[in-house]
Amino acid sequence: MAGIRISGVRRTYGDSGSKVHAVNGVDLEIADGEFIALMGASGSGKTTLLNLIGGLDRPTAGRLEVLGTDLTGLPEEQLAALRLTSVGFVFQELNLLPELTLRENVALPLEGAGVPRVEAVRRAEEALGRVGLAGLGPRFPDEVSGGQQQRAAIARAVVGERRLLLADEPTGALDSATGTQVMQLLRELCDSGVTVVVSTHNPANAQYADRVVRMRDGRIDGITTGASSTAGRSR
Ligand SMILES: Nc1ncnc2c1ncn2[C@@H]1O[C@H](COP(=O)(O)OP(=O)(O)OP(=O)(O)O)[C@@H](O)[C@H]1O
Ligand SMILES: [Mg+2]
Repeated sequence: MAGIRISGVRRTYGDSGSKVHAVNGVDLEIADGEFIALMGASGSGKTTLLNLIGGLDRPTAGRLEVLGTDLTGLPEEQLAALRLTSVGFVFQELNLLPELTLRENVALPLEGAGVPRVEAVRRAEEALGRVGLAGLGPRFPDEVSGGQQQRAAIARAVVGERRLLLADEPTGALDSATGTQVMQLLRELCDSGVTVVVSTHNPANAQYADRVVRMRDGRIDGITTGASSTAGRSR
């Protein structure tokens, strides 16, 4: 199992005068293809933990292994390469570049990884089809709905066979019906083999997860098996 291994991870901000322990000793193993919902009050450390897993930030202490790569002490270029080829991010809003079409937005990481333009656009169209946006590739973000923008952002996060999808409150800016569709889409991607870690404030979103990890003051406060647990579920 490659998956994700988080051991004794801390992330502390500030100096000795005023330290904030955003993540304060987290141990967690996430299996390949698992769907984890991170829940917890504002300030409990969800975003910080997602950024650490995705290599956008580095721990103050502890060890992080992501998809078989030990991130500890990994040079910045290799961390950037891992983000480009293996890890996709989706945020609450402002995910897409407004001056690019949906297709161009989705093709960006592929082009960044050296895929020729024509091939990148072809695969971007494929990814858009996978998230239910076939035909909308030529539109600009402000020409589609918020939910469609978020789907396009998810397509960009998984294009190029990226195996890990990290989503930070992806439904936070959406109405509840659209948010439900986005969670269902994440579940479908997970069922097709992508590992998904999503932070959310909405308890209803927990039903899509295999496990719900509750955070409090930078620590894991409890882990429960979600309604979509693999027990009794076929994939
Ligand atoms: N760059 C930073 N500098 C200093 N403190 C920070 C920084 N980023 C986050 N923090 C602090 O770390 C703690 C955890 O923040 P984090 O953003 O991870 O919480 P969160 O669970 O994502 O909250 P929310 O639900 O509001 O998004 C908070 O106390 C926050 O104020
Ligand atoms: Mg947050």
